[in-house]
Amino acid sequence: KIEDRVNDLMARMTLEDKVAQMSQYVGLEHMRKAMKNLKADELDKNDAQGFYPGYSIQDIADMAAEGKIGSFLHVVTAEEANELQKLAQKSPLKIPLLIGIDAIHGNGLYNGATIYPSPITQAATWDDALLKEASKQTALEMRATGSHWAFTPNIDVLRDPRWGRTGETFGEDPYLVGKMGLATIQGLQSDDFESGTYLPNHVIACAKHLIGGGESLNGLNASPLDVSKRTLFEIFLPPYKEAVREGNLFSIMLSHNEVNGVPAHMDKFLMTDVMRDRWGFNGFYVSDWNDVSRIANWHHIAKDYKEASLLSVAAGLDMNMHGPKFADYVIQLVKEGKLPQERIDEACSKILEAKFRLGLFENPFVEVGKENEVVFNKTHQETSLKQAREAITLLKNNGILPLKGSNKSIFVTGPNANNETIMGDWVYEQPAENTTTVYEGIKALGEKNGFKVDYFNAGERSRKMKDSDIDKAATLAKQYDMTILVLGENSFRYDWPNKTTGENIDRATLELSGKQMALANKILANGKPVIVVYVSGSPIAEPELENQANAVIYAYEPGSFGGQAVAETIFGALNPGGKLPVTIPRSVGQLQMVYNHKPTMYIHKYNTEEKVPLHPFGFGLSYTTFKISEPRLSQETFSSINDTIQVSVDVTNTGEMAGDEIVQMYIRDNISSFTRPVKELKGYKRVHLEPGETTTVTLPITANCLAFYDADFNFVVEPGEFTVMTGDSSADKDLKKVTFEATETINLKE
Ligand code: IFM
Repeated sequence: KIEDRVNDLMARMTLEDKVAQMSQYVGLEHMRKAMKNLKADELDKNDAQGFYPGYSIQDIADMAAEGKIGSFLHVVTAEEANELQKLAQKSPLKIPLLIGIDAIHGNGLYNGATIYPSPITQAATWDDALLKEASKQTALEMRATGSHWAFTPNIDVLRDPRWGRTGETFGEDPYLVGKMGLATIQGLQSDDFESGTYLPNHVIACAKHLIGGGESLNGLNASPLDVSKRTLFEIFLPPYKEAVREGNLFSIMLSHNEVNGVPAHMDKFLMTDVMRDRWGFNGFYVSDWNDVSRIANWHHIAKDYKEASLLSVAAGLDMNMHGPKFADYVIQLVKEGKLPQERIDEACSKILEAKFRLGLFENPFVEVGKENEVVFNKTHQETSLKQAREAITLLKNNGILPLKGSNKSIFVTGPNANNETIMGDWVYEQPAENTTTVYEGIKALGEKNGFKVDYFNAGERSRKMKDSDIDKAATLAKQYDMTILVLGENSFRYDWPNKTTGENIDRATLELSGKQMALANKILANGKPVIVVYVSGSPIAEPELENQANAVIYAYEPGSFGGQAVAETIFGALNPGGKLPVTIPRSVGQLQMVYNHKPTMYIHKYNTEEKVPLHPFGFGLSYTTFKISEPRLSQETFSSINDTIQVSVDVTNTGEMAGDEIVQMYIRDNISSFTRPVKELKGYKRVHLEPGETTTVTLPITANCLAFYDADFNFVVEPGEFTVMTGDSSADKDLKKVTFEATETINLKE
């Protein structure tokens, strides 16, 4: 049994050995690449500057060989992973290394990986089963290249889309985020993670960041979160509860920010009282990059790194990302009697358990060369393309789409038209032949359909576009029947200096960056049809542009095959069926704008702005039409913890083209002892229907869908009336309603 193997090993370990398991370092190649100014033969001997002052790369390698390191991050290739594992095998206990990587939507740091659409894009599919499949494939690509621990899913609930990491999230809704997070975890870790079986083809998931980064104050990453306990429990924590309880999540990364005056990295209430004791989290916590030391130098709570280490480990931290001093301090703190030995034992045993479960003690190495059979294979490519197709969300169509007829000429331009911005964040350089840009997709399919398609590069970096190029684009556009304008933001990590969103690149506005609107306005002034394609992980609020455009396609960050999926949409080979996982406000001034707001939110109005969004959460058009019937309930009362009401609707494709519809179910607690949102998503289903076809969608309402936290933070269903709303978006006009009564107080005891 794994438990016995952990105990046996622990019995042979010193305090120093155990603390070593709690220490993670950046991969040696990663450091070498960053230290570009040194010659190859000087690299390993010199101080590892920006990383570990006072230590050379050789020192770190020696520490691995002495058993002083438990984990590395950002080790990208099989060769590199094997080199490090070889070092660990020289150590007295030969404990294999756990290798973690930011495989956020595919193993994107690897050159040649399958790049799946970014998380916000995946959420727009509302297809958890497909996401689970993509995550299983990511695990295979990771294992083939030597890593075992994915720093994903990001289950931060997004409440401010100015946050640069918007594209890494599954959007604004706790329920959808919970379902998408769960699918990712189950795909990565496998369904039977809890059964004790070995998982040589799977990896450990890492939900992040506990907690609240998605409500970044003023839109800025790592800013302080000041939030009520109620909002924490109702908005931010539910995806974690789901991940732990349903997905056996095995690791959690803490967030940079403080929560109500307590840096997350020393928040015992969240780490231990809530996650472990209340919900049964049974894995381990890892810090974010340098964040333990930041309890001292950012948050000014601890006087130095040593005290910060004490506060963090005592609160529940199990592994430090990244660097040398932490281990020394923790050893000293135990010897000084300030940190209990049991805390170290708990941390070390969980990390060892992960290594045993992953089968690393049996074989820490990977077969070099074998990765070529796995990485970017045909099956994985198809999954990535399917996700991109399912995500595409049609925001406007005055009838121009899908393009029909032949001999039409199309002019394609815009900063995101012909480059890898379709990849999104956490993706490094990828082979050009693995990627279909939007222009390449339109050119290939357009010409096949008899269209003439040309591209003009009016500047690929929105902030560096030249006025002369903009003028030239507008002049050229006059010669074509229509323009496809590919606009949006850029979070492609490999293009760091030019990113306009992404980690630590936050927006102060929701408008298009740089000179994109100048380009759009000049082309619109020609008076010819314009189709806007947004390639962007972050939503864009440009109501006037949408007003003037003939059609608007939101492609998000669709990954390796994004260009193909966009082209198929334009020419009608694909009927778009994605729905927004985030509200698109009309302007930055409308923030915080979310569909599940409290009842008094819009009693009043602005004097300069509308109080409705540009597009509501859950919205997306199709080339066909659907009719969704009134909801029917299997029973009119809800009376016990095991009760389930089945809600059924008939969905009919009333148009002339096959297509997908996403039926959404929202619930409102009509009278409650604390104010409750005007509606909350509690179920959804994506269905495919041929023209004229009808299907019945049935969604269950369980006690979990009705409960909220009472005055003592018990999770309860209160008796009284509830409204069920079903339809194809969160907007009231798109929903049909029915009510039922809960007859008893039900305590879900958590
Ligand atoms: O996983 C990431 C995290 O999301 C942000 N800081 C760095 C970590 C490791 O790269």
